[in-house]
Amino acid sequence: MSISVRGITKIFQNRRDKKVNTIVLKDISFDVAEGEFVSLLGPSGCGKTTTLTIIAGFQKHNEGQILINGKEVNKPGPDRAFVFQNYALFPWMKVGENIMYPMKLSKVPKNERKSKLKELLNMAQLEEYANYYIHELSGGMKQRVALLRALACDPEVLLMDEPLGAVDFQMRKLLQIQLETILQKKNTTVLMVTHDVDEAIYLSDRVIVMSRDHGRIIADVKVDLPRPRDRKSDGYHSYLNRLTDILKSALNGEVKNEEDEDLLEFIKKTKNKHIEYNPC
Ligand SMILES: Nc1ncnc2c1ncn2[C@@H]1O[C@H](COP(=O)(O)OP(=O)(O)O)[C@@H](O)[C@H]1O
Ligand SMILES: [Mg+2]
Repeated sequence: MSISVRGITKIFQNRRDKKVNTIVLKDISFDVAEGEFVSLLGPSGCGKTTTLTIIAGFQKHNEGQILINGKEVNKPGPDRAFVFQNYALFPWMKVGENIMYPMKLSKVPKNERKSKLKELLNMAQLEEYANYYIHELSGGMKQRVALLRALACDPEVLLMDEPLGAVDFQMRKLLQIQLETILQKKNTTVLMVTHDVDEAIYLSDRVIVMSRDHGRIIADVKVDLPRPRDRKSDGYHSYLNRLTDILKSALNGEVKNEEDEDLLEFIKKTKNKHIEYNPC
Protein backbone atom coordinates (compact mmCIF):
# COMPACT_ATOMS: atom_id res chain seq x y z
CA MET A 1 0.00 0.00 0.00
CA SER A 2 1.26 3.47 -0.83
CA ILE A 3 1.10 6.58 1.35
CA SER A 4 0.48 9.98 -0.14
CA VAL A 5 0.76 13.13 1.93
CA ARG A 6 -0.76 16.07 0.02
CA GLY A 7 -0.41 19.65 1.17
CA ILE A 8 -0.79 18.99 4.88
CA THR A 9 -1.04 22.02 7.14
CA LYS A 10 -1.32 21.67 10.89
CA ILE A 11 -1.89 24.55 13.26
CA PHE A 12 -2.07 24.28 17.01
CA GLN A 13 -4.21 26.99 18.53
CA ASN A 14 -3.94 28.04 22.13
CA ARG A 15 -7.34 27.60 23.76
CA ARG A 16 -6.85 30.34 26.30
CA ASP A 17 -5.66 32.87 23.77
CA LYS A 18 -7.00 32.05 20.33
CA LYS A 19 -4.75 34.66 18.78
CA VAL A 20 -1.71 32.59 19.61
CA ASN A 21 -1.16 29.94 16.97
CA THR A 22 1.64 27.64 16.03
CA ILE A 23 1.92 26.56 12.42
CA VAL A 24 3.75 23.28 12.89
CA LEU A 25 3.34 21.95 9.35
CA LYS A 26 2.77 24.13 6.33
CA ASP A 27 1.81 22.57 3.01
CA ILE A 28 3.79 19.35 3.43
CA SER A 29 3.71 16.84 0.59
CA PHE A 30 5.52 13.58 -0.07
CA ASP A 31 4.82 10.03 -1.20
CA VAL A 32 5.90 6.61 -0.01
CA ALA A 33 5.55 3.87 -2.63
CA GLU A 34 4.27 0.39 -1.83
CA GLY A 35 7.00 -1.65 -0.17
CA GLU A 36 9.28 1.35 0.25
CA PHE A 37 11.08 2.13 3.53
CA VAL A 38 11.25 5.88 4.09
CA SER A 39 12.73 7.69 7.09
CA LEU A 40 11.70 11.11 8.33
CA LEU A 41 14.74 12.81 9.77
CA GLY A 42 14.81 16.23 11.40
CA PRO A 43 15.61 18.24 14.51
CA SER A 44 13.50 17.93 17.61
CA GLY A 45 10.23 19.86 17.39
CA CYS A 46 10.13 20.09 13.57
CA GLY A 47 6.86 18.16 13.32
CA LYS A 48 7.90 14.54 12.65
CA THR A 49 5.61 12.97 15.24
CA THR A 50 2.78 15.28 14.20
CA THR A 51 3.16 14.16 10.56
CA LEU A 52 3.17 10.49 11.55
CA THR A 53 0.14 10.74 13.84
CA ILE A 54 -1.81 12.61 11.15
CA ILE A 55 -1.06 9.78 8.68
CA ALA A 56 -2.14 7.29 11.37
CA GLY A 57 -5.39 9.24 11.77
CA PHE A 58 -4.80 9.93 15.47
CA GLN A 59 -5.12 13.66 14.94
CA LYS A 60 -6.66 15.84 12.31
CA HIS A 61 -4.93 18.23 9.95
CA ASN A 62 -6.25 21.66 9.03
CA GLU A 63 -5.61 21.42 5.32
CA GLY A 64 -4.55 18.79 2.81
CA GLN A 65 -5.15 15.10 2.33
CA ILE A 66 -3.73 11.75 3.42
CA LEU A 67 -4.20 9.00 0.85
CA ILE A 68 -3.57 5.32 1.46
CA ASN A 69 -3.48 3.46 -1.83
CA GLY A 70 -5.13 6.48 -3.41
CA LYS A 71 -8.04 6.58 -0.91
CA GLU A 72 -8.41 9.46 1.52
CA VAL A 73 -8.25 8.49 5.21
CA ASN A 74 -9.26 10.60 8.20
CA LYS A 75 -9.20 8.11 11.04
CA PRO A 76 -7.10 5.18 12.26
CA GLY A 77 -7.49 1.84 10.49
CA PRO A 78 -6.13 -1.72 10.73
CA ASP A 79 -4.17 -1.11 7.50
CA ARG A 80 -1.76 1.14 9.47
CA ALA A 81 0.15 -0.18 12.49
CA PHE A 82 1.87 2.32 14.75
CA VAL A 83 4.86 1.96 17.03
CA PHE A 84 4.81 4.74 19.63
CA GLN A 85 7.91 6.45 20.92
CA ASN A 86 6.84 5.67 24.51
CA TYR A 87 5.78 2.05 23.79
CA ALA A 88 2.07 2.42 24.75
CA LEU A 89 1.95 -1.16 26.04
CA PHE A 90 -0.83 -2.45 28.32
CA PRO A 91 0.60 -2.67 31.84
CA TRP A 92 -2.10 -5.08 33.05
CA MET A 93 -1.17 -7.64 30.38
CA LYS A 94 1.87 -9.88 30.18
CA VAL A 95 4.35 -9.57 27.31
CA GLY A 96 2.77 -12.44 25.35
CA GLU A 97 -0.74 -11.07 25.81
CA ASN A 98 0.37 -7.63 24.66
CA ILE A 99 1.86 -9.03 21.47
CA MET A 100 -1.11 -11.29 20.77
CA TYR A 101 -3.70 -8.59 21.48
CA PRO A 102 -4.06 -7.31 17.86
CA MET A 103 -4.31 -10.90 16.63
CA LYS A 104 -7.07 -11.51 19.18
CA LEU A 105 -8.92 -8.45 17.91
CA SER A 106 -8.54 -9.78 14.36
CA LYS A 107 -9.92 -13.14 15.53
CA VAL A 108 -6.80 -15.12 14.63
CA PRO A 109 -7.27 -18.69 16.03
CA LYS A 110 -5.55 -19.35 19.35
CA ASN A 111 -3.02 -21.94 18.09
CA GLU A 112 -2.01 -19.61 15.26
CA ARG A 113 -1.61 -16.75 17.74
CA LYS A 114 0.63 -18.90 19.89
CA SER A 115 2.90 -20.03 17.08
CA LYS A 116 3.17 -16.48 15.73
CA LEU A 117 4.01 -15.26 19.23
CA LYS A 118 6.79 -17.83 19.52
CA GLU A 119 8.22 -16.78 16.17
CA LEU A 120 8.12 -13.09 17.09
CA LEU A 121 9.62 -13.52 20.57
CA ASN A 122 12.37 -15.64 19.10
CA MET A 123 13.14 -12.98 16.53
CA ALA A 124 13.69 -10.33 19.20
CA GLN A 125 15.41 -12.67 21.68
CA LEU A 126 12.59 -12.39 24.17
CA GLU A 127 11.58 -16.08 24.39
CA GLU A 128 12.02 -16.11 28.15
CA TYR A 129 9.79 -13.11 28.79
CA ALA A 130 6.33 -14.09 27.51
CA ASN A 131 4.98 -14.24 31.07
CA TYR A 132 6.57 -11.08 32.39
CA TYR A 133 4.60 -7.94 33.08
CA ILE A 134 5.63 -4.76 31.26
CA HIS A 135 6.95 -3.04 34.39
CA GLU A 136 9.40 -5.92 34.82
CA LEU A 137 11.17 -5.08 31.54
CA SER A 138 13.94 -2.63 30.67
CA GLY A 139 13.20 0.29 28.33
CA GLY A 140 14.83 -1.49 25.40
CA MET A 141 12.81 -4.64 26.00
CA LYS A 142 9.58 -2.64 26.15
CA GLN A 143 10.42 -1.08 22.84
CA ARG A 144 11.03 -4.49 21.28
CA VAL A 145 7.68 -5.75 22.60
CA ALA A 146 5.95 -2.69 21.11
CA LEU A 147 7.59 -3.44 17.76
CA LEU A 148 6.54 -7.09 17.88
CA ARG A 149 2.96 -6.11 18.69
CA ALA A 150 2.89 -3.88 15.62
CA LEU A 151 4.27 -6.68 13.44
CA ALA A 152 1.88 -9.32 14.82
CA CYS A 153 -0.85 -8.73 12.27
CA ASP A 154 1.44 -8.32 9.27
CA PRO A 155 0.40 -4.70 8.63
CA GLU A 156 0.71 -3.36 5.10
CA VAL A 157 1.74 0.06 6.37
CA LEU A 158 3.98 0.41 9.38
CA LEU A 159 4.38 3.83 11.01
CA MET A 160 7.15 3.97 13.60
CA ASP A 161 8.09 6.87 15.85
CA GLU A 162 11.73 6.42 16.90
CA PRO A 163 11.11 2.69 17.44
CA LEU A 164 14.66 1.92 18.55
CA GLY A 165 15.28 5.14 20.46
CA ALA A 166 15.56 3.52 23.89
CA VAL A 167 17.39 0.37 22.81
CA ASP A 168 21.06 0.10 23.70
CA PHE A 169 23.69 0.26 20.97
CA GLN A 170 24.32 -3.48 20.48
CA MET A 171 20.67 -4.47 20.52
CA ARG A 172 19.85 -1.55 18.27
CA LYS A 173 22.21 -2.78 15.56
CA LEU A 174 20.83 -6.31 15.90
CA LEU A 175 17.23 -5.14 15.67
CA GLN A 176 18.03 -2.99 12.65
CA ILE A 177 19.28 -6.11 10.85
CA GLN A 178 16.24 -8.15 11.92
CA LEU A 179 13.83 -5.37 11.05
CA GLU A 180 15.31 -5.09 7.58
CA THR A 181 15.12 -8.84 6.97
CA ILE A 182 11.48 -9.09 8.08
CA LEU A 183 10.28 -6.03 6.24
CA GLN A 184 12.07 -6.88 3.00
CA LYS A 185 10.39 -10.29 3.00
CA LYS A 186 6.95 -8.88 3.62
CA ASN A 187 7.06 -5.92 1.25
CA THR A 188 5.68 -3.71 4.05
CA THR A 189 5.46 0.02 3.38
CA VAL A 190 7.30 1.76 6.21
CA LEU A 191 7.55 5.35 7.37
CA MET A 192 9.91 5.70 10.32
CA VAL A 193 10.76 8.78 12.35
CA THR A 194 14.31 8.82 13.59
CA HIS A 195 16.90 11.32 14.73
CA ASP A 196 19.71 8.86 13.97
CA VAL A 197 21.33 9.51 10.57
CA ASP A 198 23.10 6.12 10.58
CA GLU A 199 19.87 4.25 11.30
CA ALA A 200 18.08 6.14 8.53
CA ILE A 201 20.75 5.22 5.96
CA TYR A 202 21.06 1.62 7.12
CA LEU A 203 17.33 0.92 6.81
CA SER A 204 15.85 3.29 4.25
CA ASP A 205 15.28 3.39 0.54
CA ARG A 206 14.77 7.14 0.94
CA VAL A 207 15.44 9.69 3.64
CA ILE A 208 13.28 12.81 3.88
CA VAL A 209 14.73 15.66 5.93
CA MET A 210 12.35 18.13 7.58
CA SER A 211 13.40 21.51 8.93
CA ARG A 212 12.13 23.60 11.83
CA ASP A 213 10.72 26.03 9.29
CA HIS A 214 7.11 24.72 9.49
CA GLY A 215 8.31 21.20 8.73
CA ARG A 216 9.49 22.25 5.28
CA ILE A 217 11.11 19.33 3.46
CA ILE A 218 14.64 20.41 2.62
CA ALA A 219 15.91 17.12 1.18
CA ASP A 220 14.57 13.87 -0.20
CA VAL A 221 17.54 11.54 -0.66
CA LYS A 222 17.37 8.16 -2.36
CA VAL A 223 19.79 5.76 -0.65
CA ASP A 224 21.23 3.95 -3.60
CA LEU A 225 23.25 1.22 -1.84
CA PRO A 226 22.92 -2.58 -2.08
CA ARG A 227 21.32 -4.41 0.88
CA PRO A 228 22.33 -5.47 3.42
CA ARG A 229 24.25 -2.24 3.74
CA ASP A 230 27.94 -2.22 4.44
CA ARG A 231 28.61 0.42 7.08
CA LYS A 232 32.29 0.35 6.20
CA SER A 233 31.87 1.14 2.51
CA ASP A 234 32.81 4.49 0.96
CA GLY A 235 29.31 4.87 -0.42
CA TYR A 236 27.83 4.49 3.08
CA HIS A 237 30.20 7.10 4.45
CA SER A 238 29.41 9.58 1.74
CA TYR A 239 25.67 9.29 2.55
CA LEU A 240 26.50 9.75 6.24
CA ASN A 241 28.43 12.95 5.53
CA ARG A 242 25.86 14.31 3.14
CA LEU A 243 22.88 13.73 5.42
CA THR A 244 24.70 15.02 8.50
CA ASP A 245 25.35 18.28 6.63
CA ILE A 246 21.72 18.53 5.52
CA LEU A 247 20.55 17.88 9.08
CA LYS A 248 22.70 20.73 10.31
CA SER A 249 21.05 23.13 7.89
CA ALA A 250 17.63 21.82 9.02
CA LEU A 251 18.26 23.48 12.36
CA ASN A 252 17.68 26.85 10.73
CA GLY A 253 14.24 28.34 11.17
CA GLU A 254 12.08 27.71 14.20
CA VAL A 255 8.60 26.87 15.30
CA LYS A 256 7.18 30.14 16.55
CA ASN A 257 3.85 31.43 17.76
CA GLU A 258 2.11 33.72 15.33
CA GLU A 259 -0.58 36.36 15.72
CA ASP A 260 -2.13 37.03 12.40
CA GLU A 261 -5.69 37.98 11.39
CA ASP A 262 -5.42 36.02 8.14
CA LEU A 263 -4.38 32.95 10.05
CA LEU A 264 -7.39 33.29 12.35
CA GLU A 265 -9.63 33.54 9.30
CA PHE A 266 -7.97 30.46 7.84
CA ILE A 267 -8.53 28.49 11.04
CA LYS A 268 -12.20 29.50 11.02
CA LYS A 269 -12.57 28.25 7.47
CA THR A 270 -10.52 25.11 7.88
CA LYS A 271 -12.51 21.99 7.10
CA ASN A 272 -11.29 20.04 10.12
CA LYS A 273 -12.38 21.90 13.20
CA HIS A 274 -10.52 19.70 15.63
CA ILE A 275 -7.78 21.91 17.06
CA GLU A 276 -5.71 20.91 20.04
CA TYR A 277 -4.91 22.81 23.15
CA ASN A 278 -1.43 24.21 23.18
CA PRO A 279 -0.10 23.75 26.70
CA CYS A 280 2.86 26.07 26.09
N1 LIG B 1 -0.99 18.70 20.99
C1 LIG B 1 -0.19 19.74 20.79
N2 LIG B 1 -0.58 21.00 21.11
C2 LIG B 1 0.22 22.03 20.87
N3 LIG B 1 1.43 21.99 20.30
C3 LIG B 1 1.87 20.77 19.95
C4 LIG B 1 1.10 19.58 20.18
N4 LIG B 1 1.81 18.52 19.71
C5 LIG B 1 2.97 19.02 19.23
N5 LIG B 1 3.02 20.35 19.38
C6 LIG B 1 4.11 21.23 18.94
O1 LIG B 1 4.37 20.98 17.58
C7 LIG B 1 5.77 21.02 17.31
C8 LIG B 1 6.20 19.73 16.65
O2 LIG B 1 6.06 18.65 17.55
P1 LIG B 1 6.44 17.16 17.14
O3 LIG B 1 5.68 16.77 15.94
O4 LIG B 1 6.24 16.33 18.37
O5 LIG B 1 7.98 17.30 16.79
P2 LIG B 1 9.11 16.18 16.58
O6 LIG B 1 8.47 14.83 16.63
O7 LIG B 1 9.73 16.50 15.26
O8 LIG B 1 10.10 16.39 17.69
C9 LIG B 1 6.45 21.28 18.63
O9 LIG B 1 6.74 22.65 18.70
C10 LIG B 1 5.40 20.91 19.66
O10 LIG B 1 5.53 21.67 20.82
MG1 LIG C 1 8.74 13.24 17.97
